[in-house]
Amino acid sequence: MVKNKNLLIAGNWKMNGLKENLSMISSLTKYIKKKNFKNSEILICPPNTLIDSFSSFSKRSNLMIGAQDCSSNESGAYTGEVSPLMLKDIGACAVILGHSERRDYQKESNKLIHDKAENALNNNFLTIVCIGETLTQKKKGNTLRIIGEQLKKSLPNKIKANNLVVAYEPIWAIGSGLVPSNNDIYKVHNFISNKLNSRYGNKAKKIKILYGGSVNKKNASSILSIDSVNGALVGGASLKFSDFKGILDFCN
Ligand code: PGA
Repeated sequence: MVKNKNLLIAGNWKMNGLKENLSMISSLTKYIKKKNFKNSEILICPPNTLIDSFSSFSKRSNLMIGAQDCSSNESGAYTGEVSPLMLKDIGACAVILGHSERRDYQKESNKLIHDKAENALNNNFLTIVCIGETLTQKKKGNTLRIIGEQLKKSLPNKIKANNLVVAYEPIWAIGSGLVPSNNDIYKVHNFISNKLNSRYGNKAKKIKILYGGSVNKKNASSILSIDSVNGALVGGASLKFSDFKGILDFCN
């Protein structure tokens, strides 16, 4: 059990899941209700197609439902885009922004992520902004420089600290089964924390910093126990109830 910590455990389903996966959410809501978490918040971000049905289940427990992206605009002629207002309309209260897969495949820039984050925060969304280095950047010793630049350019100046979350996800750790050493995670989280403190002052204390990248039920306890880790962003291991439960079992 990871004691005395307010943790946020967020599941990122990516482009996985059909209506038949309602049973996972049903088991999860029952488990959350039974366990009655005092210090931890649990969030699932399914594809947009499942938000409506998942959020009607989640109303019966404290499970939060979120999206994996949102538009930087409110409404209008933006084909294919979905705004925070629309996501709120179907029961989402959170959003993941700037995931490395979107930065890479959709070529999302720090500026676009900044604008999306501003829009999400203005709509009172729990806004998770992802940052992280590639393996090449790590090998060249550039991790902190890259992280620093992403933080500076992706985060808005005006924030609601309660609603802003930073997720440190080394790109080489995502879906690979590789995880940085606890000491490396500690160092990067500490760096992020210092940057947030110097930019936002007192408010920064409220900003949670999550670790993401190959978190599973075997390594969760050790990662979540690291000082300055306030939770986890979980991909693969959030898809199956038994795997996700294995992580939540360490939370209270
Ligand atoms: P993973 O993905 O847990 O499957 O490594 C994490 C993420 O991409 O957010």
